[in-house]
Amino acid sequence: MPGIIKEKPDMSFTPESLVRVPRHVAIIMDGNGRWAKQRGLPRSAGHQQGTENLRQILKAAVEFGVEILTIYAFSTENWKRPRHEVALLMRILEMVIDRELRELNENGVQIRHIGELDGMPERLQRKVREACATTAQNDRLILNVAFNYGGRDEIVHAVQHIIQAGIAPESVTEDLISSYLYTSGLPDPDLIIRTSGEFRLSNFLIWQGSYSEYYYTPVYWPDFNKQEFWQALVDYNHRKRRFGKTDDQLEQE
Ligand code: FPP
Repeated sequence: MPGIIKEKPDMSFTPESLVRVPRHVAIIMDGNGRWAKQRGLPRSAGHQQGTENLRQILKAAVEFGVEILTIYAFSTENWKRPRHEVALLMRILEMVIDRELRELNENGVQIRHIGELDGMPERLQRKVREACATTAQNDRLILNVAFNYGGRDEIVHAVQHIIQAGIAPESVTEDLISSYLYTSGLPDPDLIIRTSGEFRLSNFLIWQGSYSEYYYTPVYWPDFNKQEFWQALVDYNHRKRRFGKTDDQLEQE
């Protein structure tokens, strides 16, 4: 399977043992439902275990020296799920904010939200705003929570705002468009990880991910532990990022 290294990963878990640590890692946390089904449990148990798992991955991200972690928690397409599951995912975000905000803040995590707040329950909108405001000055790790997020939706919003701002067509550049996205001001993801053996982008960071490296693993999200994360970073270190250039050009740089 592409993206999975055959050799044993270096288990020293120190950023120094990597040639380069990706600054920005984005994760499609997939497979909660199948994880639960495999164990004869309800899907909700998979989401709960997936939420627990997020804690260790956040800790590991800081330890590994990752600066920005973007997680895909709820897509614009996830509204199509059964109502009780949609409600559960909303409750999970609220619970995570209620239970973890203080500790995240003490640990220097800056919480950002990407996606549309409109459409989410008002109380949740307030909590998300409050979590972002409380942690805005932190700089140890940026945690970008993609919730009610869709890549196409994001581009539609950007275009609407560009038109509303009366920007002339000749002034529309790639940088300008980037500056109108939810991720404005952040570097594009270096590495996008998807768990659970699916090989799709599912409307995630479709603009920002155009030169990202992709890593796919069959492991379901609740089982994607620190070691699996490390393996993804080791694999990333074996990639040659050419950004459209030739090997010769890169050697001369
Ligand atoms: C995909 O698994 C997972 C989701 C749609 C939700 C991801 C949410 C979490 C991991 C909880 C953390 C959430 C927040 C808000 C911080 P799936 O349900 O599609 O699994 P399946 O493909 O096996 O059915």
